[in-house]
Amino acid sequence: MALEPDPELFREVFGRFATGVAVITSAAAAGSGGMTANAVCSLSLDPLLALVCFENNARTLAIVRESGRFGVNVLSAEQEDVARVFASKVPEPEKLEAVSHRYHADVPIIDGALSWVACSLRELIAGGDHTIAIGEVVAMGLGEGEPLLWYEGQYHDFAPRVGR
Ligand SMILES: Cc1cc2nc3c(=O)[nH]c(=O)nc-3n(C[C@H](O)[C@H](O)[C@H](O)COP(=O)(O)O)c2cc1C
Repeated sequence: MALEPDPELFREVFGRFATGVAVITSAAAAGSGGMTANAVCSLSLDPLLALVCFENNARTLAIVRESGRFGVNVLSAEQEDVARVFASKVPEPEKLEAVSHRYHADVPIIDGALSWVACSLRELIAGGDHTIAIGEVVAMGLGEGEPLLWYEGQYHDFAPRVGR
């Protein structure tokens, strides 16, 4: 059945696209911060590129513009509390203060992330009320654990199919 497109329905449609959960981090001279995101994608293997879609008024976008760098921290199932902090509007510096992290290629990377990449900003492309940031991967790493998932507006644990 075809339905009349509108923003609420659009949210519901894409809410059925189950994703992982990432935190985009960045540190600039004026301050550091980050935001929870699922509009994240690997883009190219040669060169290695990743993209993130930022709401235009996300404070993290301003930090990324200034620093020219960002990190994609793929969260593990144990990091739902981290996702909640970075999805909030608490004062930006308090976000990274709330989690242990270390720097790789001048990008804050959250301890315990399931995997991560640090990117150098290549391009910002306007996309309606969002901005697409394309970054060249300058460092990457792997952690351990199970992924945190996002589906129909809620966090979920990963449950592999068994017996197939
Ligand atoms: C699971 C989940 C996924 C999200 N994905 C995005 C996203 O891809 N892009 C975005 O701009 N905001 C996304 N958000 C909303 C931001 O995390 C939220 O607006 C945050 O407060 C932005 O923080 P900032 O203003 O400090 O940058 C998502 C939130 C959640 C809970």
